[in-house]
Amino acid sequence: MRPSFARLAPLLTAFALALYSQAVPAQGDTVTTPPFVTTPPEVVDRMLALAGTLPSDYVVDLGSGDGRIVIAAAKKFGARGLGLELDPKLVAESRVNASAAGVADKAQFAVQDVLRADFSKATVVTAYLLPWLMAQLSPIFLDSLRPGARIVTHAFVFPSWRPDRVEKVRLAVPHPSQGDESTIYLWVVPANSRGFWQAASPEGKWSLRIDQNFQEVDVEATLAGAPLKIANARLEGDRLSLSGTLRGAPFAFRGRVEGSRIAGEAELGADKRITPLVFTK
Ligand SMILES: C[S@@+](CC[C@H](N)C(=O)[O-])C[C@H]1O[C@@H](n2cnc3c(N)ncnc32)[C@H](O)[C@@H]1O
Repeated sequence: MRPSFARLAPLLTAFALALYSQAVPAQGDTVTTPPFVTTPPEVVDRMLALAGTLPSDYVVDLGSGDGRIVIAAAKKFGARGLGLELDPKLVAESRVNASAAGVADKAQFAVQDVLRADFSKATVVTAYLLPWLMAQLSPIFLDSLRPGARIVTHAFVFPSWRPDRVEKVRLAVPHPSQGDESTIYLWVVPANSRGFWQAASPEGKWSLRIDQNFQEVDVEATLAGAPLKIANARLEGDRLSLSGTLRGAPFAFRGRVEGSRIAGEAELGADKRITPLVFTK
């Protein structure tokens, strides 16, 4: 007989809590450094692919261990990269590994605490770190990475930031912490689009009121005082897209959030008339 989830649930909950209490330092506890456990090669490849890594990217692995993610980014994706690692022995080993792989010019390593490092130039960030460290890193990511930067993590998530994509990777060889399947997560750093925005066009005055929680946006819009019915509102990095109806006719907007302006174009009516719009605060 297959065990029912209802019967297994208390056991699973107890197991999850036991793991979690080890991972999250309580007040006054000594903070444990995430141990050196490697990401399997097939997971490394999927993480870099999930980030859409290109030769133009600058990949930073936080807690880089033996350097495998930064080395794979250079060797298989042609990207430059930097691994930040607390343990000097692992940094020395990473440099040897990068030379052996023929990518020492592209894959660099430094002994550094990720909580004190400046990785604001990264376009792709990877991490396989414990939840308490992930929790401390999420505000740093939001403040310092440019909108559109991709963050890919192995196994661990941010406490309240919903991932943009989740993928499961079957493992060729069972992993000591992940078993026979790893989960990887993608987050795209959102621009700050929150606030009240206005624009003008021959059709009249436009207004947008945007409420934002990470990449999730709630938008109220009007044109010449008439409310637009927004059916879809999406923010991915600095790209804002809206669609819905205006007085029963289709309406869409695609634009980029560029600091204190949102520039783009609206598509109006059945004839899909294009109107350039620049919203300011
Ligand atoms: C789970 S291993 C991941 C290694 C590698 N990124 C991978 O995925 O195979 C975590 C690594 O982070 C390093 N680490 C832990 N805390 C760190 C910190 N605050 N700053 C830099 N490195 C850290 C550990 O020494 C360890 O090598």
